[in-house]
Amino acid sequence: MALHRVILAFGFLWLSACCQKLFQTVFETPNEQFQVGTTFHHPIRRVAVVGAGPAGLQAAAKLLEHNFTLRLFDRAPHPGGNWLYSEDTPLRESYPDKPNGDTTKIPAHLPTEHYYNEGDDGWTLNDRWTEHWRPRPVWYNLFTNSPKVSTELPDVPYDAETPWVLSHNTIQRHVRSYASHHCLNSNDHCPEVQSVPRVVSYSTRVEKVERDAETHTWKLTLRRLERLPESNRILEEWWTEVFDAVVLATGPYTSAHVPDIEGIVDWSKAKEGGNYSMYHSQSYRHPERYAGKTVLIVGASVSASEIARDISPFAHRIIASVRPPKQRRANRLRSLSRFPNVTEFVPEIASFKPLKSHTDGIRSGEIYLLNGTSLQGIDEIILATGFRSTALYPPNLMTRRPENISWTGHYTDPTLAYTMGRPWTLGRYQSYGLAKVWEGTARLPPPKQEEEEDPDSGDPRGMWLSEAQFRCYITWLNDASLEYGGRFVEPPPIANLELLKYYSVVHWLNNTMKLEGTGLDFISTAAGGQLKVEDPWDALVDEETDW
Ligand SMILES: Cc1cc2nc3c(=O)[nH]c(=O)nc-3n(C[C@H](O)[C@H](O)[C@H](O)COP(=O)(O)OP(=O)(O)OC[C@H]3O[C@@H](n4cnc5c(N)ncnc54)[C@H](O)[C@@H]3O)c2cc1C
Ligand SMILES: NC(=O)c1ccc[n+]([C@@H]2O[C@H](COP(=O)([O-])OP(=O)(O)OC[C@H]3O[C@@H](n4cnc5c(N)ncnc54)[C@H](OP(=O)(O)O)[C@@H]3O)[C@@H](O)[C@H]2O)c1
Ligand SMILES: *[C@@H]1O[C@H](CO)[C@@H](O)[C@H](O)[C@H]1NC(C)=O
Ligand SMILES: *[C@@H]1O[C@H](CO)[C@@H](O)[C@H](O)[C@H]1NC(C)=O
Ligand SMILES: *[C@@H]1O[C@H](CO)[C@@H](O)[C@H](O)[C@H]1NC(C)=O
Ligand SMILES: *[C@@H]1O[C@H](CO)[C@@H](O)[C@H](O)[C@H]1NC(C)=O
Ligand SMILES: *[C@@H]1O[C@H](CO)[C@@H](O)[C@H](O)[C@H]1NC(C)=O
Repeated sequence: MALHRVILAFGFLWLSACCQKLFQTVFETPNEQFQVGTTFHHPIRRVAVVGAGPAGLQAAAKLLEHNFTLRLFDRAPHPGGNWLYSEDTPLRESYPDKPNGDTTKIPAHLPTEHYYNEGDDGWTLNDRWTEHWRPRPVWYNLFTNSPKVSTELPDVPYDAETPWVLSHNTIQRHVRSYASHHCLNSNDHCPEVQSVPRVVSYSTRVEKVERDAETHTWKLTLRRLERLPESNRILEEWWTEVFDAVVLATGPYTSAHVPDIEGIVDWSKAKEGGNYSMYHSQSYRHPERYAGKTVLIVGASVSASEIARDISPFAHRIIASVRPPKQRRANRLRSLSRFPNVTEFVPEIASFKPLKSHTDGIRSGEIYLLNGTSLQGIDEIILATGFRSTALYPPNLMTRRPENISWTGHYTDPTLAYTMGRPWTLGRYQSYGLAKVWEGTARLPPPKQEEEEDPDSGDPRGMWLSEAQFRCYITWLNDASLEYGGRFVEPPPIANLELLKYYSVVHWLNNTMKLEGTGLDFISTAAGGQLKVEDPWDALVDEETDW
């Protein structure tokens, strides 16, 4: 009992005002609709997890540990999520940006299967394959922008000598080790830990998630592709499966964002020597291609600055089109400070002048900038303009995270849940929470209240609130364990937070100081103020992208 009290007291110490409010609500209304055992129309047994990245793998492992009948689906052939590096590049992004709700056509009668040959419907087998799994927007020389202490999954610690900053390959091995540790990797066979014959289904895209209001279940429409090299074909299988509950862990970056700039569709058609002259950063892999070239990078965030650094030893000239940051947050400023010192910064692009030909590149083309000047002589354009994310449910929602979800990730109908926050740090708590609510050893807290805006930053969710959110989770989980049974969880070690803070100072704040006199004055003027260095914690969480 003493131990429980210590844990709870520790949790309380960290509660923010917001958290206290939520917490009190939980206590004041213990018998509301979310009371254990009354929420669900039938016991939750069959659960689907969509996505085998750091978030989905943790949810799957925890739900298996809690004896749910589990299925884990991922469109990719292996686990790893964003970190499944490949030399293959994704299918070319759409110009203009894909309209909302543009989804695959589902055959009328399921299950069904089909064999595709090279060239069927005008598709190569390679394109059909990459469209299905979507190679990740990760390049060969990519390193993390988060330190090891906050980019680590449980159970499979990095070697002590692993550096602070990790290569994508180190993370990939880490995430796949985690998958194997829990017998969730693509080629694992561990009969001793799995009573269920088939838990994982890779190369399987979840095309649709539907709620059956009568049976209170979820129907998933699934499509799996298999390459058949002997016959040089692709087998496509369609089927459906029904679940009591679903976890959507599909990641924050489901497709590339192409900005809506006048003339961009025309320029997107231009090729030189068979290669497109303009493409999105999702297809960037190696810097050598840029040897001797004049490259225009569009964007001012992490992809833009890091690709600029990568190509800098090769490129002839690097020009970056950046617009004033909407949010004056340290992570944006950090990116600006990380552009190589040879970068020539120019304002946002107003329009692309129509090209005379689409077959000899863009060098003779003209790009008009917002300040009235124009650019010529560009060889290649990289759109480092970010990503769009779509939710599988509710369908066609242009955000991975619908409104009104509980801070535990549960949707209005709590048999559906979304993974939230950084999976490395929050994922372990959230996974346990999902298992507890669905097995009946935790009561679901009330839906998320609107978070109060921080009057200084105008940003409702900084790291401090995330920090408070951690404490909310921990206190909620431990309270539920006291009441209904279960294991107690501990907060992340204080030392990790200290290391994170130190890293943020070295990598964000100190770099940001170096911005003065870098030719970025037009940014601070246009944004109507001085470049401002904020709280180091702010730098570490970008709520829009959730890195
Ligand atoms: C270029 C780049 C660099 C990054 N660098 C960092 C970094 O340094 N540090 C950091 O912490 N984070 C970084 N991130 C963020 C990264 O998203 C997270 O590290 C982490 O991978 C998120 O984990 P996740 O499991 O939520 O999503 P993901 O890792 O994206 O995994 C989602 C999985 O869901 C699958 N999926 C999606 N839709 C479907 C569907 N319909 N059916 C079946 N499967 C589906 C995908 O195939 C994917 O495997 C970076 C992201 C990018 C794009
Ligand atoms: N580990 C790494 O080194 C690494 C590398 C790459 C990416 N990442 C992670 O991946 C995630 C995505 O990063 P990202 O850089 O690809 O995308 P992002 O953070 O969404 O940034 C997109 C950038 O494009 C700009 N932009 C969009 N439209 C534009 C236009 N018309 N003209 C000029 N600029 C335009 C945006 O400006 P506004 O801000 O004004 O909208 C923003 O600067 C982040 O979480 C990041 O941390 C990490
Ligand atoms: C899962 O089932 C095993 C075997 O019956 C049991 O030992 C274990 O306690 C169960 N786990 C949970 C969390 O209920
Ligand atoms: C620019 O960076 C390069 C490589 O990092 C360095 O050698 C050079 O001295 C820098 N130049 C200036 C003017 O800072
Ligand atoms: C427009 O921006 C470019 C690049 O920063 C600069 O060289 C030029 O002087 C600017 N023109 C005007 C009219 O401000
Ligand atoms: C979210 O909650 C608000 C206020 O209760 C309500 O108006 C809105 O319709 C809800 N949205 C969804 C998607 O449920
Ligand atoms: C940050 O930069 C300042 C000034 O260059 C330096 O004195 C300080 O040691 C740096 N801090 C860290 C943590 O590296």
